[in-house]
Amino acid sequence: MRESTVPDPSTTPATPASPALGSDARSGATAGCPPISSTLPGDAEPVIEVRDLTKRYGTHTIHEHLDLTVRQSEIIALVGGSGSGKTTLIRQIIGLEAPTSGHISVFGHDITMIDRNTAHLLRRRSGMLFQRGALFSALTVFDNIAQPLRELHTLSEDLIRDVVMYKLDMVGLSGRMANRMPAELSGGMIKRVGIARAIALEPELLFLDEPTAGLDPQASDEFVDMIRGLHRSLGLTVVMVTHDLDTVMMLATRVAVLADRKVLVNAPVEDAVCVDHPFIRSFFLGERGRRALLALPAARRTKISELLDDGK
Ligand SMILES: Nc1ncnc2c1ncn2[C@@H]1O[C@H](COP(=O)(O)OP(=O)(O)OP(=O)(O)O)[C@@H](O)[C@H]1O
Ligand SMILES: [Mg+2]
Repeated sequence: MRESTVPDPSTTPATPASPALGSDARSGATAGCPPISSTLPGDAEPVIEVRDLTKRYGTHTIHEHLDLTVRQSEIIALVGGSGSGKTTLIRQIIGLEAPTSGHISVFGHDITMIDRNTAHLLRRRSGMLFQRGALFSALTVFDNIAQPLRELHTLSEDLIRDVVMYKLDMVGLSGRMANRMPAELSGGMIKRVGIARAIALEPELLFLDEPTAGLDPQASDEFVDMIRGLHRSLGLTVVMVTHDLDTVMMLATRVAVLADRKVLVNAPVEDAVCVDHPFIRSFFLGERGRRALLALPAARRTKISELLDDGK
């Protein structure tokens, strides 16, 4: 297993020096915010680089000239309205959908140009928790988690058994769960098993599409703790789609806001909220957003204290 070099995301933005802004984000900052820079911090390696991406379904344009950079060991929260194209963006990054134009590079490979072998190798370096249908309903928990391991055709059943049990333990489930069917599990357990499957091959990059949707607050908190622990122990880079503000505040080192077919801003949340845009105002600066922002550690909240006071 890889060594942990990961800061605690709740207290330490991965790149505190300067936020990365999408091209449109320079349009203006909200009053009460310090000035924000438009340069990318350059300390960690980019794991994902999306450049000038356009995606259309027929005449419906989902993404247009979209840019996004994700650096090693970051936890990026991808937020945006329903239908703004969050899932579609992830599907393109993992190669399940082809872009209409533009470039996507993952671990330094342009995924629109690679051969099948390289695509297969890249898939093994990433894990995915899908928004819907996380598990195969006809397979036991054990077989769901074992499936990516069996696809390698190189591991013995004994070794697969050890790995599955270890992954169950990592996501906080007892070995007794292994023989259960998905229909016998709670929503939170299903998500945990989905994560266990996503990390079965020890990926460096983890995609989570709405990991806490449908979970009660306690299960959401437990889920956040689990992701934080995995992030710390595996040194993962995480891209997480979420509508859940508490999860954003607790986990994300940066938030990438998808609106107007682009990534408007990709920055620590206290910088992202300063971009003057209707989605950002309604998502982060409504009652729930302000409440969630108040949960940020004091050092990070200071930057936006004026903005938070404004709404009182
Ligand atoms: N295969 C497809 N064919 C045609 N249109 C599609 C397809 N997949 C997605 N879309 C459209 O693309 C848009 C973006 O969908 P997407 O699922 O990426 O949104 P989202 O931001 O993930 O939304 P949500 O928050 O509701 O999950 C929607 O208008 C959707 O109808
Ligand atoms: Mg979606």
